[in-house]
Amino acid sequence: MAAGALTGSKRPKGLPIVNVAMVPQRSPFRYPGGKTWLVPYIRHWLRHRSRPIRELIEPFAGGAIIGLTAACEGLVESATLVEKDADVAAVWRAILGGEGRWLADRVVDFELTPESVRRALDSTPRSTKERAFQTLLRNRVQRGGILARGAGLMKNGENGRGLRSRWYPATLRKRILAILEMRNRITFVEGDGMEVIRRNSRRRDVVFFIDPPYTVAARRLYTHSEIDHEELFSLASELAGEFLMTYDNAEEIRALAARHGFEMRLVPMKSTHHAEMLELLIGRDLGWVPVQGSAAATARQLTLQIEQGLPDDLR
Ligand SMILES: C[S@@+](CC[C@H](N)C(=O)[O-])C[C@H]1O[C@@H](n2cnc3c(N)ncnc32)[C@H](O)[C@@H]1O
Repeated sequence: MAAGALTGSKRPKGLPIVNVAMVPQRSPFRYPGGKTWLVPYIRHWLRHRSRPIRELIEPFAGGAIIGLTAACEGLVESATLVEKDADVAAVWRAILGGEGRWLADRVVDFELTPESVRRALDSTPRSTKERAFQTLLRNRVQRGGILARGAGLMKNGENGRGLRSRWYPATLRKRILAILEMRNRITFVEGDGMEVIRRNSRRRDVVFFIDPPYTVAARRLYTHSEIDHEELFSLASELAGEFLMTYDNAEEIRALAARHGFEMRLVPMKSTHHAEMLELLIGRDLGWVPVQGSAAATARQLTLQIEQGLPDDLR
C-alpha cells in the first residue's frame, strides 16, 4: 500500500473486533484510552520482527497494558515504561521499587465505604506507596477511571453496586504481585516520553509503542494532555528502531502521517460503551496488520484465536 494511504474509512473488511474479555488483563489500572483491545495485534507485530527485540519502550505508558503484556509473555526481553503523571507514576514506582507487597496488602485490607473512600481521597499522601494506593482507589471509584481533575465519583456503578462496582481487591492484589514477580524485566521512568524517545532514537534493538494523549478527548481524560504532535511525528521519522503509534482517526493526524510517508491502518475496537469505533495504527511498514484480500486468512485466524480464548502460544 502506498505510504499515507488508508484502507477505507468504514470498518475494514475481515478485521476482527477484539473481545477484550479474552485478553489477560495485567494492569492494576482501568485506564481511559487503555489498549487492551490492541493486545492480539501487538503479539502479531512483535512476533513478526526480523531482528530480535531487546526492549519495548512505551513512552506514554498510562496503564501500560502493552509493555506489561510484552514483558510477561516474553515477546521482548524487557520493557521500559515512561509516564509524566506523578499519581500514575507513584503506582509504578511503588510496585517496581520494592513496595508492591505493601500496596497489594493495603488494597485487600481496605474496607470500602463511602466514608472511607472520602477520607482516603481527601488525605495528603506522605509517601510514594500511600500516593500509589490513593491513585489506585481513585482510578476504581471515579467515573470512567478518569484521574484528571474534575472527574466525579461513580454514583450507581455497575449492577447498582455503587462505589464498589470496580473495586476488585483480590484481583488487584494478584495483578500487583504478578508485576512484582517480573520486575527485573520492567524499568519505569517518571518523566517526559518525548525525551526518552529522543534518547533512544539511534538504537536498533528497541521498538516503540507510542500511544500519546489523543487530540480530541485527551483534555478531559488526563492531567497531562498537551503533546506537540508535529514534534512527535518528526521524532518518529528519525528512529532507527521500529515503532507503532495509535491515534484517533483525526484528519490532522492522518495529514501528519502522510507527510512523513508513514503507513496507516484503521482497526475496529469497541468503546467502553460498546460502540464500535475505528482507531488509527501508524507505522513505517504495516504489512503485518491483517487486512482484506490476501491477508484475510490471517484475519480469520486472529478472529478464531480471539473467539476461542487464544491458544497458549498467543497468551
Ligand atoms: C492514551 S494514554 C496511554 C494509555 C496506555 N497505552 C494504556 O493502555 O493504558 C496517554 C498517557 O500519556 C501520558 N502523558 C501525557 N504527556 C506525557 C509526556 N510528555 N510524557 C509521558 N507521558 C505523558 C498521560 O498521562 C497518559 O497516561
